[in-house]
Amino acid sequence: MARVLSGIQPSGNLHIGNYFGMMKPMIEYQQNSELYCFIVNYHAMTSVHDGRRLAQGTIEAALDFLALGLDPHKSIFWVQSDVIEVQELTWILSTMTNMGLLERAHSYKDKVAQGITPSHGLFAYPVLMAADILLYQAEIIPVGKDQKQHIEMTRDIAISFNHEFGETFVLPEPQISEELATVPGLDGRKMSKSYDNTIPIFLPKSELKKRVMSIVTDSTPLEQSKDPDTCNVFALYKLFASSEKIQAMRQHYLGGNYGYGHAKKELLSLLEEYFAPYQERRLELAKNPATVIDILQHGTAKAREKAAITIELVREKTGLAYKKFF
Ligand code: ADP
Ligand code: TRP
Repeated sequence: MARVLSGIQPSGNLHIGNYFGMMKPMIEYQQNSELYCFIVNYHAMTSVHDGRRLAQGTIEAALDFLALGLDPHKSIFWVQSDVIEVQELTWILSTMTNMGLLERAHSYKDKVAQGITPSHGLFAYPVLMAADILLYQAEIIPVGKDQKQHIEMTRDIAISFNHEFGETFVLPEPQISEELATVPGLDGRKMSKSYDNTIPIFLPKSELKKRVMSIVTDSTPLEQSKDPDTCNVFALYKLFASSEKIQAMRQHYLGGNYGYGHAKKELLSLLEEYFAPYQERRLELAKNPATVIDILQHGTAKAREKAAITIELVREKTGLAYKKFF
Protein backbone atom coordinates (compact mmCIF):
# COMPACT_ATOMS: atom_id res chain seq x y z
CA MET A 1 0.00 0.00 0.00
CA ALA A 2 1.34 3.41 -0.94
CA ARG A 3 2.17 5.80 1.86
CA VAL A 4 0.20 9.00 1.31
CA LEU A 5 0.72 12.18 3.36
CA SER A 6 -0.50 15.75 3.39
CA GLY A 7 -1.12 18.58 5.83
CA ILE A 8 -3.18 21.74 6.08
CA GLN A 9 -2.60 24.98 7.96
CA PRO A 10 -5.08 25.91 10.69
CA SER A 11 -4.87 29.57 9.76
CA GLY A 12 -8.52 30.33 8.94
CA ASN A 13 -11.81 28.75 7.90
CA LEU A 14 -11.17 25.88 5.51
CA HIS A 15 -12.89 26.50 2.20
CA ILE A 16 -14.11 24.60 -0.84
CA GLY A 17 -10.75 25.18 -2.59
CA ASN A 18 -9.06 23.31 0.25
CA TYR A 19 -11.82 20.71 0.09
CA PHE A 20 -11.48 19.83 -3.60
CA GLY A 21 -7.72 20.46 -3.82
CA MET A 22 -6.65 18.50 -0.79
CA MET A 23 -9.21 17.30 1.76
CA LYS A 24 -11.49 15.27 -0.51
CA PRO A 25 -8.62 13.47 -2.27
CA MET A 26 -7.06 12.68 1.13
CA ILE A 27 -10.32 11.26 2.48
CA GLU A 28 -10.62 9.08 -0.63
CA TYR A 29 -7.06 7.81 -0.22
CA GLN A 30 -7.79 6.29 3.18
CA GLN A 31 -9.65 3.43 1.47
CA ASN A 32 -6.60 1.91 -0.16
CA SER A 33 -3.44 3.47 1.19
CA GLU A 34 -1.51 4.11 4.34
CA LEU A 35 -2.73 7.64 5.05
CA TYR A 36 -0.95 10.31 7.10
CA CYS A 37 -2.97 13.47 7.60
CA PHE A 38 -2.02 16.32 9.91
CA ILE A 39 -2.67 19.89 10.89
CA VAL A 40 0.42 21.98 10.38
CA ASN A 41 0.31 24.45 13.24
CA TYR A 42 4.07 25.19 13.17
CA HIS A 43 3.63 26.33 9.58
CA ALA A 44 0.63 28.46 10.50
CA MET A 45 2.86 30.39 12.91
CA THR A 46 4.40 32.06 9.88
CA SER A 47 1.17 34.09 9.75
CA VAL A 48 -0.72 33.62 13.04
CA HIS A 49 0.70 35.11 16.25
CA ASP A 50 -2.32 34.82 18.49
CA GLY A 51 -2.32 31.83 20.83
CA ARG A 52 -6.07 31.53 21.20
CA ARG A 53 -6.65 31.84 17.46
CA LEU A 54 -4.05 29.21 16.60
CA ALA A 55 -5.38 26.76 19.20
CA GLN A 56 -8.98 27.36 18.08
CA GLY A 57 -8.03 27.02 14.42
CA THR A 58 -6.30 23.72 15.15
CA ILE A 59 -9.41 22.16 16.71
CA GLU A 60 -11.66 23.64 14.01
CA ALA A 61 -9.52 22.11 11.27
CA ALA A 62 -9.60 18.74 13.07
CA LEU A 63 -13.39 18.98 13.33
CA ASP A 64 -13.64 19.80 9.63
CA PHE A 65 -11.61 16.76 8.62
CA LEU A 66 -13.45 14.38 10.93
CA ALA A 67 -16.87 15.69 9.89
CA LEU A 68 -15.97 15.34 6.22
CA GLY A 69 -15.14 11.69 6.69
CA LEU A 70 -11.55 11.28 7.78
CA ASP A 71 -11.58 8.03 9.72
CA PRO A 72 -8.98 7.85 12.51
CA HIS A 73 -9.15 4.05 12.37
CA LYS A 74 -8.09 4.01 8.75
CA SER A 75 -5.51 6.79 8.93
CA ILE A 76 -2.95 8.49 11.14
CA PHE A 77 -4.32 11.91 12.08
CA TRP A 78 -2.44 14.31 14.35
CA VAL A 79 -1.22 17.84 15.00
CA GLN A 80 2.26 18.67 13.68
CA SER A 81 3.66 20.17 16.89
CA ASP A 82 2.84 17.03 18.91
CA VAL A 83 5.59 15.16 17.04
CA ILE A 84 8.61 17.18 18.12
CA GLU A 85 10.97 14.94 16.12
CA VAL A 86 10.03 17.03 13.09
CA GLN A 87 11.99 19.96 14.52
CA GLU A 88 15.16 17.93 14.84
CA LEU A 89 14.88 16.73 11.27
CA THR A 90 14.19 20.30 10.12
CA TRP A 91 17.49 21.46 11.58
CA ILE A 92 19.41 18.56 10.08
CA LEU A 93 17.89 19.13 6.64
CA SER A 94 18.48 22.87 6.86
CA THR A 95 22.21 22.20 6.95
CA MET A 96 21.95 20.63 3.51
CA THR A 97 19.54 23.09 1.92
CA ASN A 98 21.06 25.72 -0.32
CA MET A 99 20.04 29.32 0.26
CA GLY A 100 19.53 29.59 -3.50
CA LEU A 101 16.89 26.85 -3.45
CA LEU A 102 14.88 28.70 -0.81
CA GLU A 103 15.32 32.04 -2.56
CA ARG A 104 13.63 30.59 -5.66
CA ALA A 105 10.45 29.55 -3.80
CA HIS A 106 7.39 31.10 -5.53
CA SER A 107 5.28 31.20 -2.42
CA TYR A 108 8.02 33.04 -0.49
CA LYS A 109 8.62 35.47 -3.36
CA ASP A 110 4.85 36.12 -3.70
CA LYS A 111 4.51 36.96 -0.03
CA VAL A 112 7.48 39.34 -0.18
CA ALA A 113 5.98 40.94 -3.32
CA GLN A 114 2.73 41.47 -1.36
CA GLY A 115 4.73 43.61 1.06
CA ILE A 116 5.08 41.15 3.94
CA THR A 117 8.34 41.59 5.87
CA PRO A 118 9.59 38.01 5.80
CA SER A 119 10.62 36.20 8.98
CA HIS A 120 13.28 33.51 8.98
CA GLY A 121 10.43 31.04 9.56
CA LEU A 122 8.71 32.08 6.34
CA PHE A 123 11.99 31.68 4.45
CA ALA A 124 12.68 28.28 6.00
CA TYR A 125 9.06 27.09 5.54
CA PRO A 126 9.93 24.59 2.77
CA VAL A 127 12.57 22.91 4.98
CA LEU A 128 10.00 22.23 7.69
CA MET A 129 7.68 20.93 4.98
CA ALA A 130 10.45 18.64 3.69
CA ALA A 131 10.96 17.33 7.23
CA ASP A 132 7.18 16.70 7.50
CA ILE A 133 7.30 14.51 4.44
CA LEU A 134 10.65 12.77 4.83
CA LEU A 135 10.15 11.95 8.51
CA TYR A 136 7.44 9.48 7.47
CA GLN A 137 9.08 8.33 4.24
CA ALA A 138 5.92 9.37 2.41
CA GLU A 139 5.57 8.44 -1.27
CA ILE A 140 2.52 10.38 -2.50
CA ILE A 141 1.61 13.92 -1.50
CA PRO A 142 -1.89 15.09 -2.56
CA VAL A 143 -1.83 18.90 -2.76
CA GLY A 144 -3.16 21.73 -4.88
CA LYS A 145 -1.06 23.06 -7.74
CA ASP A 146 0.44 25.89 -5.65
CA GLN A 147 2.31 23.38 -3.48
CA LYS A 148 4.01 21.52 -6.32
CA GLN A 149 7.25 23.46 -6.04
CA HIS A 150 7.48 22.71 -2.32
CA ILE A 151 7.36 18.99 -3.09
CA GLU A 152 10.05 19.42 -5.74
CA MET A 153 12.18 21.20 -3.14
CA THR A 154 11.60 18.30 -0.75
CA ARG A 155 12.93 15.96 -3.41
CA ASP A 156 16.01 18.16 -3.93
CA ILE A 157 16.73 18.21 -0.20
CA ALA A 158 16.27 14.42 0.04
CA ILE A 159 18.58 13.90 -2.93
CA SER A 160 21.28 16.04 -1.24
CA PHE A 161 20.98 14.04 1.97
CA ASN A 162 21.02 10.69 0.16
CA HIS A 163 24.05 11.82 -1.82
CA GLU A 164 26.02 12.85 1.24
CA PHE A 165 25.00 10.07 3.64
CA GLY A 166 23.82 7.21 1.42
CA GLU A 167 20.28 6.10 0.49
CA THR A 168 18.05 7.18 3.36
CA PHE A 169 14.95 8.96 2.14
CA VAL A 170 12.22 7.92 -0.24
CA LEU A 171 11.64 10.59 -2.92
CA PRO A 172 8.01 11.79 -2.73
CA GLU A 173 5.74 12.52 -5.70
CA PRO A 174 3.12 15.29 -5.70
CA GLN A 175 -0.40 14.16 -6.63
CA ILE A 176 -2.31 17.00 -8.24
CA SER A 177 -5.77 16.55 -9.64
CA GLU A 178 -5.50 18.18 -13.05
CA GLU A 179 -9.18 18.72 -13.81
CA LEU A 180 -9.81 20.76 -10.69
CA ALA A 181 -6.30 22.03 -10.15
CA THR A 182 -7.48 25.43 -8.92
CA VAL A 183 -10.89 26.31 -7.53
CA PRO A 184 -11.74 29.95 -8.31
CA GLY A 185 -12.73 32.33 -5.54
CA LEU A 186 -15.59 34.86 -5.38
CA ASP A 187 -13.54 37.31 -7.45
CA GLY A 188 -12.26 34.78 -10.00
CA ARG A 189 -8.72 34.62 -8.57
CA LYS A 190 -7.60 31.40 -6.86
CA MET A 191 -9.81 30.81 -3.84
CA SER A 192 -7.54 31.52 -0.88
CA LYS A 193 -7.73 32.53 2.77
CA SER A 194 -5.21 35.24 2.00
CA TYR A 195 -7.45 36.90 -0.64
CA ASP A 196 -10.59 36.85 1.50
CA ASN A 197 -12.51 35.48 -1.47
CA THR A 198 -13.51 32.10 -0.08
CA ILE A 199 -16.61 30.02 0.38
CA PRO A 200 -15.96 28.29 3.70
CA ILE A 201 -17.12 24.67 3.87
CA PHE A 202 -19.04 25.16 7.09
CA LEU A 203 -21.02 28.39 7.31
CA PRO A 204 -24.41 29.33 8.72
CA LYS A 205 -27.03 29.46 5.93
CA SER A 206 -27.43 33.23 5.82
CA GLU A 207 -23.68 33.80 5.53
CA LEU A 208 -23.33 31.15 2.88
CA LYS A 209 -26.03 32.91 0.90
CA LYS A 210 -24.24 36.24 1.21
CA ARG A 211 -21.01 34.71 -0.08
CA VAL A 212 -22.65 33.02 -3.05
CA MET A 213 -24.59 36.15 -3.98
CA SER A 214 -21.35 38.15 -3.95
CA ILE A 215 -19.64 36.03 -6.64
CA VAL A 216 -18.39 38.47 -9.26
CA THR A 217 -20.05 38.19 -12.71
CA ASP A 218 -20.00 40.39 -15.81
CA SER A 219 -22.75 42.82 -16.77
CA THR A 220 -24.35 40.92 -19.68
CA PRO A 221 -28.08 41.84 -19.60
CA LEU A 222 -30.59 39.22 -18.50
CA GLU A 223 -32.05 38.55 -21.98
CA GLN A 224 -28.71 37.99 -23.67
CA SER A 225 -26.90 34.71 -24.09
CA LYS A 226 -23.99 34.21 -21.65
CA ASP A 227 -20.72 32.32 -21.86
CA PRO A 228 -20.65 29.58 -19.20
CA ASP A 229 -16.96 28.91 -19.71
CA THR A 230 -15.83 32.31 -18.47
CA CYS A 231 -18.26 32.51 -15.54
CA ASN A 232 -17.19 31.92 -11.90
CA VAL A 233 -20.64 30.79 -10.86
CA PHE A 234 -20.65 28.09 -13.54
CA ALA A 235 -17.09 27.02 -12.64
CA LEU A 236 -18.16 26.48 -9.03
CA TYR A 237 -21.45 24.83 -10.03
CA LYS A 238 -19.52 22.25 -12.06
CA LEU A 239 -17.77 21.05 -8.90
CA PHE A 240 -21.06 19.98 -7.31
CA ALA A 241 -23.52 19.21 -10.09
CA SER A 242 -24.21 15.98 -11.97
CA SER A 243 -23.35 15.99 -15.69
CA GLU A 244 -27.08 16.35 -16.57
CA LYS A 245 -27.41 19.42 -14.37
CA ILE A 246 -24.22 20.92 -15.80
CA GLN A 247 -25.56 20.38 -19.31
CA ALA A 248 -28.88 21.96 -18.38
CA MET A 249 -27.24 25.04 -16.89
CA ARG A 250 -25.00 25.38 -19.93
CA GLN A 251 -28.11 25.47 -22.14
CA HIS A 252 -29.73 28.10 -19.89
CA TYR A 253 -26.63 30.31 -20.17
CA LEU A 254 -26.51 29.99 -23.93
CA GLY A 255 -30.26 30.44 -24.38
CA GLY A 256 -30.58 33.88 -22.76
CA ASN A 257 -33.28 35.10 -20.38
CA TYR A 258 -31.35 33.42 -17.62
CA GLY A 259 -29.66 35.74 -15.12
CA TYR A 260 -26.61 35.20 -12.92
CA GLY A 261 -28.97 35.49 -9.95
CA HIS A 262 -30.74 32.30 -11.10
CA ALA A 263 -27.46 30.49 -11.46
CA LYS A 264 -26.32 31.63 -8.02
CA LYS A 265 -29.53 30.30 -6.44
CA GLU A 266 -29.00 26.91 -8.05
CA LEU A 267 -25.40 26.87 -6.87
CA LEU A 268 -26.47 27.79 -3.33
CA SER A 269 -29.01 25.01 -3.14
CA LEU A 270 -26.51 22.42 -4.37
CA LEU A 271 -23.88 23.63 -1.91
CA GLU A 272 -26.33 23.36 0.97
CA GLU A 273 -27.44 19.93 -0.10
CA TYR A 274 -23.88 18.68 -0.58
CA PHE A 275 -22.53 19.73 2.82
CA ALA A 276 -25.72 19.24 4.91
CA PRO A 277 -24.88 15.76 6.25
CA TYR A 278 -21.33 16.86 7.09
CA GLN A 279 -22.66 19.96 8.81
CA GLU A 280 -24.77 17.81 11.09
CA ARG A 281 -21.89 15.53 11.93
CA ARG A 282 -19.68 18.52 12.66
CA LEU A 283 -22.21 20.01 15.09
CA GLU A 284 -22.30 16.68 16.94
CA LEU A 285 -18.50 16.39 17.12
CA ALA A 286 -18.09 20.02 18.20
CA LYS A 287 -20.08 19.31 21.37
CA ASN A 288 -17.17 17.25 22.59
CA PRO A 289 -13.72 18.71 21.97
CA ALA A 290 -12.21 16.21 24.45
CA THR A 291 -13.06 13.38 22.05
CA VAL A 292 -11.34 15.19 19.21
CA ILE A 293 -8.23 15.75 21.34
CA ASP A 294 -8.28 12.08 22.25
CA ILE A 295 -8.39 11.07 18.59
CA LEU A 296 -5.45 13.38 17.86
CA GLN A 297 -3.47 11.93 20.76
CA HIS A 298 -3.91 8.42 19.39
CA GLY A 299 -2.70 9.67 16.03
CA THR A 300 0.30 11.33 17.66
CA ALA A 301 1.38 8.07 19.27
CA LYS A 302 1.24 6.25 15.92
CA ALA A 303 3.02 9.06 14.09
CA ARG A 304 5.79 9.26 16.69
CA GLU A 305 6.45 5.54 16.36
CA LYS A 306 7.11 5.99 12.63
CA ALA A 307 9.07 9.20 13.16
CA ALA A 308 11.38 7.52 15.69
CA ILE A 309 12.55 4.99 13.09
CA THR A 310 13.62 7.70 10.64
CA ILE A 311 15.20 9.91 13.30
CA GLU A 312 17.28 7.05 14.61
CA LEU A 313 18.54 6.23 11.15
CA VAL A 314 19.36 9.88 10.43
CA ARG A 315 21.13 10.30 13.78
CA GLU A 316 23.28 7.26 13.01
CA LYS A 317 24.17 8.38 9.52
CA THR A 318 25.02 11.93 10.48
CA GLY A 319 27.06 11.07 13.59
CA LEU A 320 24.66 12.77 15.97
CA ALA A 321 24.30 9.34 17.59
CA TYR A 322 28.00 9.63 18.48
CA LYS A 323 27.93 6.89 21.13
CA LYS A 324 27.21 4.30 18.44
CA PHE A 325 30.55 5.13 16.83
CA PHE A 326 32.51 3.91 19.90
P1 ADP B 1 -5.01 29.05 1.27
O1 ADP B 1 -4.51 29.52 -0.06
O2 ADP B 1 -6.46 29.28 1.42
O3 ADP B 1 -4.21 29.63 2.43
P2 ADP B 1 -3.54 26.67 1.81
O4 ADP B 1 -2.31 27.25 1.20
O5 ADP B 1 -3.59 26.49 3.32
O6 ADP B 1 -4.82 27.50 1.33
O7 ADP B 1 -3.82 25.27 1.12
C1 ADP B 1 -4.13 24.04 1.74
C2 ADP B 1 -4.30 22.99 0.68
O8 ADP B 1 -5.45 23.29 -0.15
C3 ADP B 1 -3.12 22.91 -0.30
O9 ADP B 1 -2.92 21.59 -0.69
C4 ADP B 1 -3.56 23.77 -1.45
O10 ADP B 1 -2.90 23.44 -2.64
C5 ADP B 1 -5.06 23.45 -1.51
N1 ADP B 1 -5.78 24.61 -2.06
C6 ADP B 1 -5.88 25.84 -1.51
N2 ADP B 1 -6.61 26.66 -2.27
C7 ADP B 1 -7.01 25.93 -3.35
C8 ADP B 1 -7.79 26.22 -4.52
N3 ADP B 1 -8.33 27.42 -4.70
N4 ADP B 1 -7.96 25.25 -5.41
C9 ADP B 1 -7.43 24.02 -5.22
N5 ADP B 1 -6.68 23.68 -4.15
C10 ADP B 1 -6.46 24.61 -3.21
N1 TRP C 1 2.50 24.03 2.83
C1 TRP C 1 1.27 23.32 2.79
C2 TRP C 1 0.13 24.32 2.46
O1 TRP C 1 0.20 25.48 2.77
C3 TRP C 1 0.97 22.64 4.09
C4 TRP C 1 1.95 21.57 4.44
C5 TRP C 1 2.86 21.58 5.44
C6 TRP C 1 2.08 20.31 3.78
N2 TRP C 1 3.56 20.42 5.47
C7 TRP C 1 3.11 19.63 4.46
C8 TRP C 1 1.44 19.73 2.69
C9 TRP C 1 3.52 18.34 4.06
C10 TRP C 1 1.84 18.45 2.29
C11 TRP C 1 2.88 17.77 2.96
O2 TRP C 1 -0.86 23.90 1.94
